Amino acid sequence: MSSTASPSRVFLVTGANRGIGYGIARRLAVQTAATASSGGGPPSTIYLTSRDLQRGQQALEALRSELKGQDVLQGDGAGTSQLDVLELDVTSAQSRRDMIAELQRRQGAQHAVLDVLVNNSGIALDGFNGDVVTKTFGTNYYAVKDLVEDVKKSGILKRDSRIVVLASMAGRLDGYKPELAKRFREAKTVKEADAIATDFKQAVDAGKEKEQGFKSAAYATSKACIIAWTRAIANEWAAEKATTTINCCCPGYVNTDMTKGRGALTLDQGARTPVLLALADEVKGRSGEYWANQKMERW
Ligand SMILES: NC(=O)c1ccc[n+]([C@@H]2O[C@H](COP(=O)([O-])OP(=O)(O)OC[C@H]3O[C@@H](n4cnc5c(N)ncnc54)[C@H](OP(=O)(O)O)[C@@H]3O)[C@@H](O)[C@H]2O)c1
Repeated sequence: MSSTASPSRVFLVTGANRGIGYGIARRLAVQTAATASSGGGPPSTIYLTSRDLQRGQQALEALRSELKGQDVLQGDGAGTSQLDVLELDVTSAQSRRDMIAELQRRQGAQHAVLDVLVNNSGIALDGFNGDVVTKTFGTNYYAVKDLVEDVKKSGILKRDSRIVVLASMAGRLDGYKPELAKRFREAKTVKEADAIATDFKQAVDAGKEKEQGFKSAAYATSKACIIAWTRAIANEWAAEKATTTINCCCPGYVNTDMTKGRGALTLDQGARTPVLLALADEVKGRSGEYWANQKMERW
């Protein structure tokens, strides 16, 4: 990682064209503008990413018009934040490569262009079978891992950068056999976290997931695996003295398409914990933690 700093703080939010990702982009813009205008920090550039560029552009325009007249966006009163959009399908290696190259081009540099990556995109499918498990893990587990690895390997992360992962309270460990819950909790390496994901898929294909101590639930297990992975990769990065920290969180039960209108929280309320992990001083240097309701929780 290079230590060359760009003048603004750069944030990237996946799946920001709707739902909590949109709320996270809005809250980042508002909070960083407030800090910058009081002289407490640099201005920010927030990249909303979307797998469909047109949907991303529509979200960008909607957000710009929502924030108009609020001293948030550059060119509007005392505003300092900038918003932009990038195409990214997190499940596609080509799309991840193209997004990284385009981000470097827009920021005018090859290295050290990104301060905070928020892995927000996720899916919750109906039904339960091997195909649902493959698709769910493809987005909620493997794509998160792949994007983080691609971003880290590309060298675009700045010194002391942060990575935030949207997990879920559905990833809590009750309902698993105690020895399996212990395996989740004690995974110290990415290899161990991956092995749990692989064992779950094999157990589902054999119709034996309950027998082996898992739950018959693709979404919940994908989130339990991504929490285990976050802890494991933080552990590996600590050993190699990386300055990037990574933490995961539950945003709460938020009213989005995913929760089919049943969520109790607004997008802005759902953005609180992820944005706290992205910005707050109290999180500085902390890594591998699971947060909910704006505080660290035992998992
Ligand atoms: N809502 C809740 O109460 C709740 C609770 C706990 C955790 N979470 C987590 O919070 C995150 C956001 O949830 P949400 O409720 O806002 O969901 P949502 O309303 O369904 O939005 C999901 C977002 O992810 C994007 N996405 C899905 N697959 C993608 C892919 N392959 N590449 C890029 N983007 C992709 C979607 O893009 P498209 O528009 O293109 O589909 C959309 O922007 C998820 O990780 C979810 O698991 C949510």
